[in-house]
Amino acid sequence: MTKAELIEALNHDIADEFASAIQYINHASLITGARYMAVQAELLVHATEEMQHATTLADQIAALGGKPSTEVGPVETSDDPEEMLRQDLAGEKSAVARYKQRIRAAMQLEEYGLARVLQDIIVMEEEHVKDLEMALGL
Ligand SMILES: [Fe+2]
Ligand SMILES: [Fe+2]
Repeated sequence: MTKAELIEALNHDIADEFASAIQYINHASLITGARYMAVQAELLVHATEEMQHATTLADQIAALGGKPSTEVGPVETSDDPEEMLRQDLAGEKSAVARYKQRIRAAMQLEEYGLARVLQDIIVMEEEHVKDLEMALGL
């Protein structure tokens, strides 16, 4: 992967981070009922963390000489709380898979600082996966 290709891939990641933040805010507002109160609070924490990831990626892209994207990826929602959590879980699993690829590419390009920052992000995405699996009783 070239540096330009890595910048392009990171811009797709930003769009997905924006989309996840929007999706979490949407799901937190729609998930109702006493049994989902803790989950609702967790979703709002995730929303904030996804915005932090977008901010970090924007800084890294600019540092690499790229222009950070303002695009927003696809957002999924549902009338069913369990389905919303499954949508969130699928998004987190795909984020983990994407960041694994990005870390490999950053290492290959000897962008070790970027690789480190992406590792910090993937730690959080893996925690998001665990939070959602717990909320779904998986
Ligand atoms: Fe994220
Ligand atoms: Fe996440």
